[in-house]
Amino acid sequence: MSPNFHMTPDEFRRYGKMVIDWIADYYERVEELPVLSQVKPGDIRAALPPAPPEHGESFEAMLRDVEQIILPGLTHWQSPNFFAYFPANSSPPAVLGDLLSSGLAVQGMLWSTSPACTELETHVMDWLVDMTGLPPQFKSTSTGGGVIQDSASSATLCAVLAARERATGYTSNEEGVTPRLVAYASSQTHSSLEKDVKIAGIGRKNLRIIEVDENFAMRPDLLRRQIEADREAGLLPFFVCGTVGTTSVGAVDPLPEIGQICREYGLWFHVDAAMYGTAAVCPEFRHLIRGVELADSYTFNPHKWMFTNFDCNAFFVADRQALINALSIMPEYLRNQASESGEVFDYRDWQIPLGRRFRALKLWFVIRHYGVEGLRHHIRQHVDLARRFAAWVRASDRFELAAEPPLNLVCFRHRDGDEATQRLMERLNQSGKLFLTHTRLNGKFTLRFSIGQTRTELRHVERAWQLMNELAGD
Ligand SMILES: Cc1ncc(COP(=O)(O)O)c(C=O)c1O
Repeated sequence: MSPNFHMTPDEFRRYGKMVIDWIADYYERVEELPVLSQVKPGDIRAALPPAPPEHGESFEAMLRDVEQIILPGLTHWQSPNFFAYFPANSSPPAVLGDLLSSGLAVQGMLWSTSPACTELETHVMDWLVDMTGLPPQFKSTSTGGGVIQDSASSATLCAVLAARERATGYTSNEEGVTPRLVAYASSQTHSSLEKDVKIAGIGRKNLRIIEVDENFAMRPDLLRRQIEADREAGLLPFFVCGTVGTTSVGAVDPLPEIGQICREYGLWFHVDAAMYGTAAVCPEFRHLIRGVELADSYTFNPHKWMFTNFDCNAFFVADRQALINALSIMPEYLRNQASESGEVFDYRDWQIPLGRRFRALKLWFVIRHYGVEGLRHHIRQHVDLARRFAAWVRASDRFELAAEPPLNLVCFRHRDGDEATQRLMERLNQSGKLFLTHTRLNGKFTLRFSIGQTRTELRHVERAWQLMNELAGD
């Protein structure tokens, strides 16, 4: 091999097979690896050479370093013993779709820069509407449509920007944000909304935090009262974010009531179902998104629970023109006949960056590999595991549930209080045998046991429960 030259197709074939083998072996052994990385800050950099190589190196050397240097510095999100945060699950068809996307390496900013990149995305987003029982206005064949974003944070930012422009008669892009616009969310809304509101020039002080009820769901009566108070003060309420599956506890905001209020006062209604949105592939869980038909925009993350590796966020709007009006600009160097014809989508107008990867491929592969039936099977499996785990907690004299779990996130704590709960979490995570994280609910330290990893089975949850009981003593 001549490392100084481009890799030949034959070399690429050989090393590509080595990499696929390596990943397949990784999947076979990941269960045995300590889930939470055990390295200290600086350990990984200390193992790397200070300067880049002057001469090209062999591929074998690179793969060896992945094994010896990188692997110990990983927290294994694809371990079946990963119960932390929300999952970022993946699957072989998604990985292969992503690999194809890298191999083709098209940049789909405009329809004309790769028509298949845009049209497959539109098509798969329309499939998701049908698969998850979303209202027809979110389809490309209607007034709206879907687009793949890098994250729910970006999707919500786009929603805030479209809402801002609509509320100001499309003048803020021209003149800056002059009226005092006010946005609303619950105390449980994901922190990305605060960031989005800051970026959009709304100002954090103009994000009203609405209190929640005993189930951690937004109180619509308080929302209405706050909107009226702000209107009376001469402010311009413009945006509400409702959540289906809050990050701390998995709470579900009352979308029908919130949506009704938004209609009455003319506010943009955005629904963040980042985690639970995937569950709507199962008809029996669709009641969780009831009221979404009143939403102006809706987002969920196939890169959390739909076996599609990060990044793959699905973002839908009911009126695509509102989004495009907020985000479109057309410099001379991008002008082309297809765009001028008005017959195509140019997804650069639906997102913050100009450039975009061919992310629809991996989602397409996932949906085709599992079929809707297969996806339902796995989602039901995870929810069933969470219900079993919750039943064990309920029956235990050592632990208690912090809230009733609507789906696959179980929040619980040690009956002896914060110190015992925190000590247990530290012992569990240091054991390397599983990884889970915490939150605070009503001021109390609470463990979050989140079941959504592709390879998690009953035996992993049973072993986790056994370990919790073993390590829960003094
Ligand atoms: C409810 C909710 N919204 C938004 C996000 C942010 O997701 P992303 O990382 O795709 O921006 C999360 C992440 O966990 C979440 O739980």
